[in-house]
Amino acid sequence: MHTPNILIAGASRGIGLGLVETWLIKGARVRALIRSPNATLLQLHDRFHTQLSLIEADMTADDCIHKVLADLGDEQLDMLVLNAGQYGPAAQDVLTTSSTEVADLFMTNAIAPMRLARALQDRVLSSGVIAFMSSQMASVELALARDMPLYGASKAALNSLIRSWSHSADAPKASLLALHPGWVKTDMGGEQAPVEIADSVNGLIQVMEKQAGRGGCYFRSYDQQVLAW
Ligand SMILES: NC(=O)c1ccc[n+]([C@@H]2O[C@H](COP(=O)([O-])OP(=O)(O)OC[C@H]3O[C@@H](n4cnc5c(N)ncnc54)[C@H](OP(=O)(O)O)[C@@H]3O)[C@@H](O)[C@H]2O)c1
Repeated sequence: MHTPNILIAGASRGIGLGLVETWLIKGARVRALIRSPNATLLQLHDRFHTQLSLIEADMTADDCIHKVLADLGDEQLDMLVLNAGQYGPAAQDVLTTSSTEVADLFMTNAIAPMRLARALQDRVLSSGVIAFMSSQMASVELALARDMPLYGASKAALNSLIRSWSHSADAPKASLLALHPGWVKTDMGGEQAPVEIADSVNGLIQVMEKQAGRGGCYFRSYDQQVLAW
């Protein structure tokens, strides 16, 4: 039987860590891209040492792609998940935010994930999936980002890059997904979030696995809903 080969970028905590753990339990080979290891990841590494490798890299750093390619060797991926993201400045106000904060937000949430995906596109099987962790806040149509406009704009930029790529001459053969994980109880989502990490992760995995081999580019929620771009 084929062992799924998976790379998750932004895997140290929250949804990314949940994806790592769940896929390891399902028997997959997992590469976790992290800025630095923590106790939970090191325990997982001990428990699943033949399945899990840790790649230490900052998604926004110039050497990130080089480190990932070096770790990958000549292997092909079934799933590439670009999960890393940040909320940006607490005030979410263009009047008060600094240019550095905005640059860091858009770099982390839009440019760096797309750059890594483009660099790895030939390493993802045509039957595979390239999934980006977006948000329903990205939807210009739904207009839900009133209270977090900068975060929403950064995820809208990500979605725009995904759709442009899917329509370009350089579009990957693998399926492309922009995913909304729900409002999830993580450091970013906060304690009051209604969705548990495990429920989000199980739903996201179902959406990704169902898309494998089908091609195309879709914006989907963890609970199988189709979202308006
Ligand atoms: N939670 C929600 O309700 C919600 C809703 C919609 C969308 N999302 C999206 O889902 C994704 C995961 O969210 P979460 O709630 O799990 O967030 P989280 O708990 O804040 O975790 C964010 C993850 O991204 C990593 N990361 C951030 N910047 C990075 C960089 N430059 N290089 C490498 N890793 C980086 C963090 O690593 P460190 O530990 O090194 O900081 C961490 O693993 C994000 O893209 C987020 O925007 C979340």
